[in-house]
Amino acid sequence: MLDDLQRGESLFDPAAYAGVRRPLEEAETLPPHCYTSEAFYQREVKRIFMKVWNFVGRADRIPNPGDFFTLDFAGIPTIIVRAQNGQVRAHANSCRHRGALVALGEGNCRAFKCPYHSWVYGLDGNLIGAPEIDRTKHFAFEQYGLVPVRLETWGGFMFMSYDPDAAPLSDWLGDLPEKLGSYGFDDMVCTRRKEYVLECNWKVYVENAMEAYHVATVHRSTLQKQKGRMAEQQETKGEWIALWKEHEGSRALLTGDVGFPFIAGLKDQAATGSWYPLIYPSTMFGATKDCMWWLEMHPISVSQTRLIVGSCFPKATAARDDFEVVVQRYYKRWDISIPEDNDISAIQQKGLSSPLARTGRLTYLEPLVHDLGNWVLDRVLD
Ligand code: FES
Ligand SMILES: [Fe+2]
Repeated sequence: MLDDLQRGESLFDPAAYAGVRRPLEEAETLPPHCYTSEAFYQREVKRIFMKVWNFVGRADRIPNPGDFFTLDFAGIPTIIVRAQNGQVRAHANSCRHRGALVALGEGNCRAFKCPYHSWVYGLDGNLIGAPEIDRTKHFAFEQYGLVPVRLETWGGFMFMSYDPDAAPLSDWLGDLPEKLGSYGFDDMVCTRRKEYVLECNWKVYVENAMEAYHVATVHRSTLQKQKGRMAEQQETKGEWIALWKEHEGSRALLTGDVGFPFIAGLKDQAATGSWYPLIYPSTMFGATKDCMWWLEMHPISVSQTRLIVGSCFPKATAARDDFEVVVQRYYKRWDISIPEDNDISAIQQKGLSSPLARTGRLTYLEPLVHDLGNWVLDRVLD
């Protein structure tokens, strides 16, 4: 019963993970060190977060040219900005002189001026000023722009990739835009964005969001009261997996609360239930009949994760006279259920961090937990 590492096996030896590779009914969980080992986490940063399309929120966060925000994504300081031509762009937040952060926090600016020696970069990342550079030989401004980070949008959402050779975002998303098309995400507006720092590994929280097994325990006095059929795993093409659940009403309200009219034009499964996609590696949507919310994760370290919860409503809903009053019922639902998940995730991380923690087994109610574990192993193992 010794942990793989204690047996002295290599952390990235596929043989050590054979149990995770078995079909769900026979499968083991990822071993605890996958959630606690610094080396495992660094491998994930290199082979997952540096390679994939990472979700970075809604483009309506930066509506005007010069609007920007900064983020530390898996330890990589990054700027997201709306350029003069109206396009959203991403740049490495690292000065090409001697490396300082050129932007802090968020705001609006005409250009990014490094706080160290005042090199200046345009919104498009080009270097446009460098005091006293004239005696520096063979210096070409065009070679010292901020390192570009790829950024593409879909449905009003922004995704960035640190890999210059990554296939386009549309390949990553596969048939998700088609399956979730009738929600009209492009026609929505983000009405609230809330950040939390989770005391857990990113996978702990993704797994929590992708199984309903815990609902009867963790949310027994809140979400458990929502009635409905069991969530069903859906067929998907692309780097996403999903649950769909048939139900009456909205899943973004607590039982008994009355909310907004449903989204106009919902089709097929969107009209009769809610979609819960996980866009790999770490973004979850809850798309229900009257709104959508997202859970966006930025790994901070092996045992800490930034969680951003965004709420989006159709523009027509957000324009209603009663919006500010009625939306509080939705915010209340998220403000109750999300901390319940945050707390249990911290408790799980503590237990996983014990030297006596052991690999576990899964129930039939956790197929997506199994999928995520295997997806991670596909990328990080030798
Ligand atoms: S480090 Fe940015 S100007 Fe010197
Ligand atoms: Fe939950």
